Amino acid sequence: DKGNHRHFMEKEIHEQPEVISHTLAHYLDFTNGTCRQLDLPFDFAAINRLAISACGTAYLAGLIGKYWFERHARLPVDIDIASEFRYREMPLSKDDAALFISQSGETADTLASLRYCRKAGMKIGAVVNVRESTIARESDVTLPTLAGPEIGVASTKAFTCQLSVLAALSVRAARARGAISAEQEKALVRQLSEAPRLATQVLKLDTEIEKLARELGKYKHVLYLGRDTNFPLAMEGALKLKEISYIHAEGYAAGELKHGPIALIDEKMPVIVIAPHDRIFEKTVSNMQEVAARGGKIILITDREGAARSTVDTLATIVLPDVPDIISPIIYALPIQMLAYYTAVFMGTDVDQPRNLAKSVTVE
Ligand code: M6R
Repeated sequence: DKGNHRHFMEKEIHEQPEVISHTLAHYLDFTNGTCRQLDLPFDFAAINRLAISACGTAYLAGLIGKYWFERHARLPVDIDIASEFRYREMPLSKDDAALFISQSGETADTLASLRYCRKAGMKIGAVVNVRESTIARESDVTLPTLAGPEIGVASTKAFTCQLSVLAALSVRAARARGAISAEQEKALVRQLSEAPRLATQVLKLDTEIEKLARELGKYKHVLYLGRDTNFPLAMEGALKLKEISYIHAEGYAAGELKHGPIALIDEKMPVIVIAPHDRIFEKTVSNMQEVAARGGKIILITDREGAARSTVDTLATIVLPDVPDIISPIIYALPIQMLAYYTAVFMGTDVDQPRNLAKSVTVE
């Protein structure tokens, strides 16, 4: 049931404050400011590496997870696209753990990667949305996302719930590995608890984003740029846009601009820059200047400070509320989903059932 929404995707985008809240509450005790005990088959303090593997949007959630695990917990993470992982013949240690991320829990390549790790004797965790799925069944521990059924082929709420689980797990790993103090844990848990409220605020930008989508729909190619966790988000933005609007889009690390994609920039290729005002914001501003100097049109997604400090003319600037670093990818995912959604609606495509795509890819 779509309720009063035009599409499941729209409904699922709007459910995010609630499902993020449920998911976080499953892993975090907000009253005490601590991570809940989890019955893990491995000890975060004892492993040397974590291997994460997934497909599509779930892979991009894993990539953001890598930034978090390495930053907060000082835990090295190998992240792979599952279809590569299963054939890559990399060395695996049975003393390390593997994490698989899947909304459906049935993705063929992700499942094959899981079985591959199991054979290598690794301990296995699965971040899944469908709890009675094969991937859930075959893992040592299921780490559920509490997103509820996701019907739209384009993943939205499952993605932000995957991010919520990974963020919480990274704090838990950080504490277990002695990388953060109890005080720091408390501070991070408090910051995470703000996600649902901030997500609700961002959803109110829908009219503004819908207007912008009518402009974006006029183009044939779009480039997304971001640094740090906004780099995977740039790829997620591009994936979402191409899936449902069929506009060609690419996501790049902003620092890679000069290494190739800048050759594509002209007035026919808008560039969406995801850049909250953080410690590397100025670097991204230089990239925007390079784009502007070549006639590229910029859509900047930032916060108040970023909007004030950016010195380039933009086609549009979407200003989000100030958000703590740790929840930034969760909150910045929303305008990106909304922009893809409204662009697809404007283009008149079949938003929930885009051509050639299946919700769950159970064959290789
Ligand atoms: O069910 P899974 O999370 O394993 O699915 C993985 C991908 O097929 C999925 O994320 C796909 O990329 C989505 N259509 C993205 O919106």
